[in-house]
Amino acid sequence: MNFLNLAASRFSVRNFSSRSVEKEKLEYILKVAQIAPSAVNFQPWHFYIITQSETLEKLHACYHREWFKTAPVCIVVVGNHSQSWKRKPDDKDYCDVDIAIAIDHLTLAAHDLGLGSCWVCNFNLEKCRQLFNFAPHLEPIALIPIGYPADETKPEKKRKKFDEIVTWIE
Ligand SMILES: Cc1cc2nc3c(=O)[nH]c(=O)nc-3n(C[C@H](O)[C@H](O)[C@H](O)COP(=O)(O)O)c2cc1C
Repeated sequence: MNFLNLAASRFSVRNFSSRSVEKEKLEYILKVAQIAPSAVNFQPWHFYIITQSETLEKLHACYHREWFKTAPVCIVVVGNHSQSWKRKPDDKDYCDVDIAIAIDHLTLAAHDLGLGSCWVCNFNLEKCRQLFNFAPHLEPIALIPIGYPADETKPEKKRKKFDEIVTWIE
């Protein structure tokens, strides 16, 4: 599959089968995330892999959606603000940008292996912080539930038109 087809066929999976995910597959997608580029190569990320049912149940309290409970794995992606690059002179923190690139690597790699995933950012940040006792400079930026999709249904890809988002400056 060429890269365009891989990217075009990925979609947010919000219904997972109970089939467990092989550890080698998780390691593979995390290695793909590990090689993502980051500002000044600071790599201000950490990935917490949750597979234990008791911890997953606690995590469900951070995001109340029935579908979220169906994922056998959830990756909590944490940005380390004490390691991220801040641009001078405006002090813009590139932590979110770096994390987004790593997550995009991860979700595309998961899709390539037949796994589904979904970004979740609309979670209760404070509950999540407390659950893992994260220090103030460590920000849980996204929860990424992962598993085998429960069904074959692919939603329609709704995107802005190409000409609407691209301007060729000549
Ligand atoms: C930064 C970000 C945050 C998101 N947060 C959530 C979320 O909290 N809950 C959810 O169900 N989907 C979330 N999504 C998934 C988007 O809704 C989804 O990617 C978008 O609708 C495009 O659909 P597709 O991923 O199927 O192509 C998020 C996506 C991104 C990139």
